[in-house]
Amino acid sequence: MGMLEGKVAIITGAGRGIGRAAAEMFAEQGADVVICDLDVGPAEETAAIVGKNGRRALVVAGDICDPKMPQEIMTAAANKFGRLDILVNNAGYSADAVIHRMTDEQFQAMLDIHLIAPFRLIRASCPLMRDQAKKELEEGIVVRRKIVNVSSIVAFGAPGQANYSSAKAGLIGLTKAVAKEWAPFNIHCNCVAFGGVDTRLTGPKEAGFTVKGHAIGVPQALIDARKETNPNARRMATPREAASGIFYLASPLSDFVNGDLIMVDGGARA
Ligand SMILES: NC(=O)c1ccc[n+]([C@@H]2O[C@H](COP(=O)([O-])OP(=O)(O)OC[C@H]3O[C@@H](n4cnc5c(N)ncnc54)[C@H](O)[C@@H]3O)[C@@H](O)[C@H]2O)c1
Repeated sequence: MGMLEGKVAIITGAGRGIGRAAAEMFAEQGADVVICDLDVGPAEETAAIVGKNGRRALVVAGDICDPKMPQEIMTAAANKFGRLDILVNNAGYSADAVIHRMTDEQFQAMLDIHLIAPFRLIRASCPLMRDQAKKELEEGIVVRRKIVNVSSIVAFGAPGQANYSSAKAGLIGLTKAVAKEWAPFNIHCNCVAFGGVDTRLTGPKEAGFTVKGHAIGVPQALIDARKETNPNARRMATPREAASGIFYLASPLSDFVNGDLIMVDGGARA
């Protein structure tokens, strides 16, 4: 029997990278997964991976920064699965610029995706998580639920990323507030901060990928320089190594962990 048998999880940004790897691990351990992503094609590929593991998947495609989207995701999850045990706020991208060239729009875009969307999703999860837990507790039933927020070592500051750093640091504060407010309902909320993970987000900027008009990626020269200056950054994590941190915080392995920040950075901040 898997560690997530009978559980239902929502993972945002599960169409690629770390979110996809988390969806696969969750399905391997028995969870049904709601896959949310901007891009429907990649999301459907993740759904097929979940299906191959014998679990049910539901794709909800769209922009999680759209204020209507969080409620749509919760309604779709409720209609298909009738419950929610795990919410992973993982979707994200970058919009890098040095401060003197950063626009208001670039700064706001990072707050929208990394902080405001997670807040709205947590709030929208209330009927399925908090209110449901309250009813269960009145009947003497204890169900443990988990919220996992995906932050970054960049929350501690990085040049060219004032917007991303601020949003990912804000997410740590949100995590701690939710953890305290919903602890009485056995809903634990934790944050995982990754170092470099080998995904589209950290590929060479020269590859030319964009999300919502923002160029993502890291200049090749910077990728090479980091390898030389930090012995713990010689390689990036695989998406599965990163997703293991999410899995830990979503599973019963972390039943005594709440409001915490776990670093999964290969020692980059050691
Ligand atoms: N890759 C790293 O080194 C690294 C390090 C620290 C933190 N992170 C964080 O991990 C998370 C996952 O990133 P990844 O590396 O797997 O990147 P990725 O680009 O491989 O996957 C991110 C997914 O999120 C989706 N997405 C982006 N904006 C969205 C939106 N507005 N609505 C819905 N879906 C959206 C994308 O379509 C994509 O499929 C992000 O929050 C990122 O900030 C990544």
